[in-house]
Amino acid sequence: MIRVVDLHKAFGANQVLRGIDLEVEKGTTCVILGGSGSGKTVLMKHVIGLLKPDRGTVFVNDVEMPKLEGLALTEARRMFGMVFQKSALFDSMTVLENVAFPLHEKDRSISGKELRRRVVEKLEVVDLAESILPRYPSELSGGMQKRVALARALIHDPPVVLYDEPTTGLDPITTEYVDDMIVGAKQRLGVTSMVISHDIASSFKVADKLAVLYDGQIAAQGTPEEVRRSQHPHVKKFLSLWFEKQ
Ligand SMILES: Nc1ncnc2c1ncn2[C@@H]1O[C@H](COP(=O)(O)OP(=O)(O)OP(=O)(O)O)[C@@H](O)[C@H]1O
Ligand SMILES: [Mg+2]
Repeated sequence: MIRVVDLHKAFGANQVLRGIDLEVEKGTTCVILGGSGSGKTVLMKHVIGLLKPDRGTVFVNDVEMPKLEGLALTEARRMFGMVFQKSALFDSMTVLENVAFPLHEKDRSISGKELRRRVVEKLEVVDLAESILPRYPSELSGGMQKRVALARALIHDPPVVLYDEPTTGLDPITTEYVDDMIVGAKQRLGVTSMVISHDIASSFKVADKLAVLYDGQIAAQGTPEEVRRSQHPHVKKFLSLWFEKQ
């Protein structure tokens, strides 16, 4: 579903990506793990066509993203639902208005009743009750806000969902809640997901495939178990920080 081929990207003298090769199979979750500044967000921006590579390319569902411009790029972006570190809900809108927003923007002719039906359908996917529709984001816990943000990202029925550090800054319980949400969206909707993280525990929990980004390259990739056995010095060090605490 997602294929990154020999991706290179520099900003001036800062060579951020130096030959990334990565494939994400349809219906699976791939976690990109790496330290701060390792280029995780830059990689994701190439996947959605927000940045152009210096060399190499990215295919999403056989569409070559860097080749697209303007309207074609806007169209292709409909393949994605995105959830960011900050849930970025609109404070002055209710849950119903927040989740319905992308649909309403695209097609003003959809009736209020139909909007509501589709919002409720997506809230069910993320385990939220219809009763929260009239509430405002400030009245919800951090974990619930994340779920609302995911419901909004799913409202178009995108085949691919991208999460940029969905659990950073959350407490352990809320983190677990978000991890379950990511796994739930995959199981119930069959979406293909790419999750950017520097949270090792979460990564091992949600990943079908794990890729560790280091020094502009993928230092290890495979199932969580395979990555855990990696002999790459940085990967061993990175993982040991967490496994020692267990
Ligand atoms: N638009 C840009 N122009 C110049 N440099 C950039 C740009 N975007 C990112 N960078 C640089 O690329 C490097 C990687 O940034 P990136 O945001 O991908 O890191 P990250 O792995 O997502 O880190 P974090 O975990 O802190 O979010 C950094 O050195 C950053 O300063
Ligand atoms: Mg980032």
